[in-house]
Amino acid sequence: MMQSTPLLDVKGLVKRYGGLTAIDHVDLTLAAGTITGVIGPNGAGKSTLIGLIGGAVTPSEGTIVLDGRDVSRLPASERARAGIGRTYQIPRPFLDMTVEENLEVAQYSVAPFVRAAAAREEREVLLTHTGLADVAALPARALPLLRRKRLEVARALALKPRVLLLDEVGAGLVDSEITELIALIRSLLDSRTAILIVEHVLRVVRECCARSMVLNFGKTLIEGPTAEILGNDQVAAVYLGTGGARETLAAEGATPGAENVVHLSAPEAETKVLAPLTAPAAPADESDAPLLQLAGIRAGYGQARVLQGIDLSVNTGEAIAILGANGAGKTTLARAISGAIAPTAGALLIGGHDVSGKPPHEIAALGIAHCMEGRRIFPTLSVQENLLLAARSTDAATARERLDAVYDLFPILAERKSQGGTSMSGGQQQMLAIGRALMARPRLVIFDEISLGLAPIVMDKLYEALALLKKARMTLIVIEQDVDRALALADHAYVLEHGVFALSGTPRQIATDPRLRHIYIGAADEGGATAAAGVAYGGR
Ligand SMILES: Nc1ncnc2c1ncn2[C@@H]1O[C@H](COP(=O)(O)OP(=O)(O)OP(=O)(O)O)[C@@H](O)[C@H]1O
Ligand SMILES: [Mg+2]
Repeated sequence: MMQSTPLLDVKGLVKRYGGLTAIDHVDLTLAAGTITGVIGPNGAGKSTLIGLIGGAVTPSEGTIVLDGRDVSRLPASERARAGIGRTYQIPRPFLDMTVEENLEVAQYSVAPFVRAAAAREEREVLLTHTGLADVAALPARALPLLRRKRLEVARALALKPRVLLLDEVGAGLVDSEITELIALIRSLLDSRTAILIVEHVLRVVRECCARSMVLNFGKTLIEGPTAEILGNDQVAAVYLGTGGARETLAAEGATPGAENVVHLSAPEAETKVLAPLTAPAAPADESDAPLLQLAGIRAGYGQARVLQGIDLSVNTGEAIAILGANGAGKTTLARAISGAIAPTAGALLIGGHDVSGKPPHEIAALGIAHCMEGRRIFPTLSVQENLLLAARSTDAATARERLDAVYDLFPILAERKSQGGTSMSGGQQQMLAIGRALMARPRLVIFDEISLGLAPIVMDKLYEALALLKKARMTLIVIEQDVDRALALADHAYVLEHGVFALSGTPRQIATDPRLRHIYIGAADEGGATAAAGVAYGGR
């Protein structure tokens, strides 16, 4: 329901970083009882907008009025007390505190005199509501990325905000988990509250937000009813790409906006451009063996046994897709292959040589690169330094060649080569993480959540590049929530469920197998009883 004075009124907002205008005269009003979407290319200024409203970022110009009160110059803590709660795109809990203590901090920051018993009760409700009850006593450090995202939501809710700002809480979730997230978001809305959602997962925007705005280069490109926005040709051109075609059945042909983000032209030229990144030939002593072999691999963390016996064989030049709900063990599998965790049983062979239990740097030296979920960008290093670090074992001229190839793939990285790695936007950091994995000129790359936080149009270009790398005989293991894209690239696909491969086959076999649907929906449905009460998304 609309009311005459908006709950939040933003006027003429500007944020400059040196010569860059991240937010350029943006106006925005949020009425109580509404959910509004903000979409736009990577680096468009979406997270900056949330930072400005939440107070983590100081505006260069403009005003932010909450319920009639100018809060533009209040520090973040005061804005939280005034009723603005936010999540961070890249979660930042207090890592050494438990999940519950993190919520306690949030509670006492807005209500220092709240009764302990009442606060505890509230926390219990929150923990259940966000599906974190089973990990309440664990340090936040122990949570995988998706659970950290849930903790972000819980921390924001502990502030009992009237304006809730959600920054890409849907990234990395499979379809059934997104259904649960949508239910959770909807359950949070009441007539006193307004919610703002920044999201590349378009289903969340389409199903939660009556109205949306598109940011592009810091400016409002267009604003209106969400269905109209998603059907708009200009939006398709700068942002949606074929993702838009799939979403709206509109948007065909030219995608001029894509040139800004990822650049690829004629196939032959592209293959040449990417050549410095593609794998060297195998050493003579491993001629016939598969590049990678796993036999009965078991692995986990302490008491938690995650992988329950994985057999896998990957030949040079193959692309493998690993699918499955969160919690099935995909990241653990990636970590077991790259040596980040040692298997408790089974054998890991690279080029026919047993490397079980070898540390990550030795496995990396054999040509295995791991692009991890959560990106792991070094904050004190610039974009270029982050990239060069991955090529440190080679000479300067070769490193330069590879750098140029990565810059050709992601021109924004070249443009921002001196910017601090973690001051890049979420999607820009994902491009950096992908570039860094390629800088080692690996024979095999494992991409964990490769499309995390990327705009749909960038995913189009990324998958084009992956197809080229595959053609040049690079071996790829792709962990991906977007089943269609993963299957289109892969030669072979596996579906993980409870630590074993429940399904495997050609992409066509997998795509048409009714069990795929069952596994995806069934696996997440375990949280179903609680989900009905508005709980649990992305459980692990
Ligand atoms: N501290 C900073 N110093 C310099 N530039 C910055 C800083 N913070 C953000 N930027 C730049 O401002 C622009 C907007 O970033 P922002 O994080 O708001 O983008 P976004 O729309 O959230 O993108 P994404 O979809 O990738 O998350 C980007 O080009 C980013 O590199
Ligand atoms: Mg962002």
